[in-house]
Amino acid sequence: MKNVKQLLMLTAALALLAATPTALQAAAGISGTKHDLSVKGWGTDELCIFCHTPHNSDTTVKDAPLWNHKVTSTVAFKVYDATVSPTLNAVVGSPSSSSKLCLSCHDGTVAMDSFGGKSGTQPPMTGTNVVGTDLSNDHPISFLYDAKLAGDDGALVSPTSASKVDALGKVPLFAGKVECASCHQVHNNEFPPFLRMANTGSALCLKCHIK
Ligand code: HEC
Ligand code: HEC
Ligand code: HEC
Ligand code: HEC
Repeated sequence: MKNVKQLLMLTAALALLAATPTALQAAAGISGTKHDLSVKGWGTDELCIFCHTPHNSDTTVKDAPLWNHKVTSTVAFKVYDATVSPTLNAVVGSPSSSSKLCLSCHDGTVAMDSFGGKSGTQPPMTGTNVVGTDLSNDHPISFLYDAKLAGDDGALVSPTSASKVDALGKVPLFAGKVECASCHQVHNNEFPPFLRMANTGSALCLKCHIK
């Protein structure tokens, strides 16, 4: 009898596992990561609200996905361009698209709880996760990465389309551009720190660079 009972319990457990793949995947979401600001006590226990809203979003940033966090407006960013590196072929512009959204927290100038139209009372981000307003010591972002750039550089993979570098889309592009979110995924810390894929042996770098 005891064996039968154990077998039944095992069968039930396996059935539960098979039936709840989403529950298992949820472990790789925002909850419990550094992007889970619901634990901060900023007047809400929601997860998405610090960055997105279903209504009345900020449309001033192009390609912003229903944005709800106050975006840096007055700061002039110093970018990684040809004055910084003579070997650079890319034409790097001011931060655009979703990179502006990352920088709305990560440049260390905007009150962290400035969401939903509020100015916020918390201090801006401090510490090692601040990328700052001087981006000239960071990997270039907000530039067009296409077959021409790959040819000019001579050691880059030619992107398969304007939305992804590799066929599987592990490394996405945004309107043809490299942005913070080409290497990072904000919603998931499966590959810390919020990377698109494991960078073991620099695998992420090698998705684009032929070195
Ligand atoms: C810390 C800020 C942040 C939080 C919190 C956040 N997002 Fe995002 N989200 C972004 C940024 C930045 C982008 C654009 C970059 C990208 O697509 O990865 C984005 C893109 C998206 C997109 C469009 C692209 C895609 O991945 O499909 C959807 C949908 C989305 N978020 C939904 C959500 C939902 C739902 C939640 C809450 C459960 C959430 N986000 C929480 C920052 C955030
Ligand atoms: C609403 C504010 C907010 C936005 C928007 C945001 N982040 Fe963050 N991020 C944080 C906070 C808070 C931390 C943790 C800071 C700390 O602990 O000092 C963090 C940490 C990180 C870390 C470090 C994680 C680790 O484990 O060390 C990375 C990488 C990161 N964010 C990338 C991004 C990228 C890329 C974007 C845009 C696609 C983005 N973040 C948008 C608030 C934000
Ligand atoms: C070309 C890929 C790439 C791009 C583009 C990129 N990052 Fe990162 N980022 C990484 C990698 C890889 C790490 C992990 C570095 C390590 O572990 O040594 C990292 C680390 C970080 C960290 C953790 C603290 C640190 O300095 O190690 C933060 C925060 C961060 N990135 C934010 C950003 C933001 C914001 C942007 C856009 C302005 C951005 N990243 C653009 C690849 C990238
Ligand atoms: C999404 C694709 C992509 C990923 C992933 C990526 N890079 Fe890049 N990287 C580029 C492109 C495109 C350029 C611009 C090259 C040029 O203009 O010649 C660049 C520029 C650079 C430069 C500056 C080149 C110069 O001439 O000044 C360095 C160094 C670099 N990347 C290193 C890395 C490292 C290290 C990683 C991994 C942490 C990485 N990249 C990940 C696409 C990528």
